[in-house]
Amino acid sequence: AAAEKGGFRSFMDKEIHDQPQAVADTLLGRTDASGRLVLDEVRIDEALLRAVDKIVVVACGTAAYAGHVAKYAIEHWCRIPVEVELAHEFRYRDPVVDERTLVVAVSQSGETMDTLMAVRHAREQGAQVLAIVNTHGSTIPRESDAVLYTHAGPEIAVASTKAFLAQITAAYLLGLYLAQLRGNMYADEVASILGELRAIPDKIQQVLDREGRVREIARWMADTQSVLFLGRHVGFPVAMEGALKLKELAYIHAEGFAAGELKHGPIALIEPGQPVFVVVPSPRGRHSLHSKVVSNIQEIRARGARTLVIAEEGDEAVRPYADEVFSVPQAPTLLAPLLAVVPLQIFACELATAKGLDVDQPRNLAKSVTVE
Ligand code: G6P
Repeated sequence: AAAEKGGFRSFMDKEIHDQPQAVADTLLGRTDASGRLVLDEVRIDEALLRAVDKIVVVACGTAAYAGHVAKYAIEHWCRIPVEVELAHEFRYRDPVVDERTLVVAVSQSGETMDTLMAVRHAREQGAQVLAIVNTHGSTIPRESDAVLYTHAGPEIAVASTKAFLAQITAAYLLGLYLAQLRGNMYADEVASILGELRAIPDKIQQVLDREGRVREIARWMADTQSVLFLGRHVGFPVAMEGALKLKELAYIHAEGFAAGELKHGPIALIEPGQPVFVVVPSPRGRHSLHSKVVSNIQEIRARGARTLVIAEEGDEAVRPYADEVFSVPQAPTLLAPLLAVVPLQIFACELATAKGLDVDQPRNLAKSVTVE
């Protein structure tokens, strides 16, 4: 087993370090000789894809947060409304789904029963279903109209890491493909974003190269009872995922909030010493939310919060209000989740390890939940 872990203490540790490869492999072989994006696996009639007027992402757990990131990118690039719904909620209400709906089912295992039931339900309503799945030959792709495989390789640790990054990457490819097909974007725009995506694996590696400080802080915080996570725009699902990782691995009460929601409730939770991770958007962003999130850091710091800030390299504005800054390389706003989530994964993994817990097999959880 030690050899399978490639020298890492746990499968999770190894899988976190496999992430540059997982993203690179998921991007591999997706363009033709002229650089045009081609998704051969997506065997849904192009006329149907052009006619799609709504996308609904169905998924559970971490895969659902990948769906939330996808919403921001696909709506921006394709101007198609995107809903993201937990598969088990979707299935048991009366969702408005028809022939013009593209349902995207996201699942690492391809076996999650809740997600499978949502796929069946969607197809019964006449929707086209596209699966974004990591496991070849699994049930969800078999029961879908088409599949876009993530190439993260087998994921052993129960809590998802590299599959999450690969799901987000695949969702970006889908968004760019639809934008290209439907004429929302010029070929050179698609190519330029693809170029930015191809630069992401090296940037993830840079985040991994600086993991020492994250680990140190995580060990110091091994006795922490509660951690909050704030993020805005695509940083919001990153905050949710950071909180989920900490719950799953370290059994610590953790909540993710949209930073804009702070004053509508969560700020009441802030008391002296409360650790809060804040995912800060790029200061270079087009419709910059940067200053609003920096104000949030200031507000919680004034109430005694310990602020642990994930910010872009060179972002000096956060420093006066941050107890700790974890910087990540620059990237376009929509792609930033692939970098920002990595320190949060490392934090949860290291804190759980410091508590003496089994990070690969947390209590009460299963890698794939094949019952409803
Ligand atoms: C379980 C796992 C989670 C995972 C979720 C969805 O709850 O513990 O880590 O995110 O299932 O799994 P899937 O295989 O559908 O992505």
